[in-house]
Amino acid sequence: MNKSTLFSIIVVLNAFQSLLFAQSNTIVLNADLTADTISRHIYGNFSEHLGHCIYGGIWVGEKSTIPNTRGIRNDVVAALKRLNIPNLRWPGGCFADEYHWMDGIGPREDRPQMINTHWGGVVEDNSFGTHEFLDLCEQVGTEPYICGNLGSGSVEEMSKWVEYITFDGKSPMADLRKQNGREKPWKVKFWGVGNENWGCGGNMTAEFYTDQYKRYATYARNYGNNRLYKIAGGPSSNDYHWTETLMKNIPQNLMNGLSLHHYTITGSWAQKGSATRFTEDEYFSTMRNTLVMDELVTRHSAVMDQYDPQKRIGLIVDEWGVWYDVEPGTNPGFLYQQNTLRDALVAGVNLNIFNNHADRVKGANIAQMVNVLQAIIFTKDEKMLLTPTFYVFEMYKVHQDAALIPLNFKSPDYTLKGKTIPAVTASASRDKGGMIHITLTNADPQKEIDMNIDLRGFKAGKIVGSVLTAKELSAHNTFDNPESVRTVPFNGYRLDKEILTMKLPAASIVMLEL
Ligand code: AHR
Repeated sequence: MNKSTLFSIIVVLNAFQSLLFAQSNTIVLNADLTADTISRHIYGNFSEHLGHCIYGGIWVGEKSTIPNTRGIRNDVVAALKRLNIPNLRWPGGCFADEYHWMDGIGPREDRPQMINTHWGGVVEDNSFGTHEFLDLCEQVGTEPYICGNLGSGSVEEMSKWVEYITFDGKSPMADLRKQNGREKPWKVKFWGVGNENWGCGGNMTAEFYTDQYKRYATYARNYGNNRLYKIAGGPSSNDYHWTETLMKNIPQNLMNGLSLHHYTITGSWAQKGSATRFTEDEYFSTMRNTLVMDELVTRHSAVMDQYDPQKRIGLIVDEWGVWYDVEPGTNPGFLYQQNTLRDALVAGVNLNIFNNHADRVKGANIAQMVNVLQAIIFTKDEKMLLTPTFYVFEMYKVHQDAALIPLNFKSPDYTLKGKTIPAVTASASRDKGGMIHITLTNADPQKEIDMNIDLRGFKAGKIVGSVLTAKELSAHNTFDNPESVRTVPFNGYRLDKEILTMKLPAASIVMLEL
């Protein structure tokens, strides 16, 4: 028997043993069994031309009295830098499939206007275009992820966009870029080929999209040493037929990633409920619908495994988050909603799920970064605040590019009126410096939970913890009280040899560094 077979047998036996003896409230942290690397790209963000995400939230223009660098808000850039955001998706969303990039280059005063038909019917003056977006990415220190227009664009248009941005040397598009003030090409690896093409991106069938994808992807070229990572517009939630059709018919040399979109809805799409005024029943439903992400990722991965057992193609969950009714009195097309402790829990649960599926989930983008849906930042004129979801991203950034540590445990229950969901989710990783981080969520709003962590194969030294919680699930930050919900140090643990015992506060997100 060779070494690797023996190792696999030990891994399987260990997993069986842990499962057999898995008890509620005890997590076995298999520190001796590191698995896949958690791609940092799971911590990506998304900025669409929608409401005040770009205009007002990021872009204020060079003449603004709000402090800015070449028109981009300094306060927002500084906040984003705290998170090590690995990639930023742009310009949509639904907007991507009606965006014509050539309208957004050249002198701003000459750029044509358009109507943003998806989002509020407002005039889009194209003052924020390719150069401005790539400048934002450079200021933040993040990788751009550009979503091309397949729905209403052309193969030629997308192909020329890639050439404009990435071609080094002399070519019609590179010359145009230089004429517009950028001598050196940018590096842009991530390219989406359309967005939600089963819906706002053209109402296509999976079969029709597959054929279109092959045309667009063929002519999106690698120039110089820029290597494209092409992401096919994937399914909505549980549309496994979409995944199967693309995986079966698109050659692997044309597709590096497949996207998945899933939003957490509390009621129905027609009545999604309020972001701040909700009952425990509604909260329970939010959490239950969030946990569905685990099933979606598992089942889409299983379909992908049939055609790609080596897991070369990444599942990119490039839109996820909560979606409520807009705040009363705001433009319904701007998708502006408050952000509470409930949403921070949703973020913590989703990110734990993605980490634990690091073998297949190679990227994810929360929708959206500023002022839209599950925003991490709100702005109002010259003011800016960080939402509870921002703090979750800050706590979890330690997992970026760290080695996933498999956990075995059975969560205690959170029961409400006879219905039950797991109260606790967790994920753990070891970073390059050897530090272990574990992130946990407790969805039960009534109960503090005693948890034991069996640190199998690890001798912990100094432990540092942080926690995000509040008295009310609906607690949130406002411009008058911007720090009402934020992370504070966590000391509710005790180490006894290899067993770490802790009290997980009700409705909390905890991060421990060992
Ligand atoms: O994030 C808001 C919208 O949700 C996006 O534009 C679209 O892709 C999705 O339906």
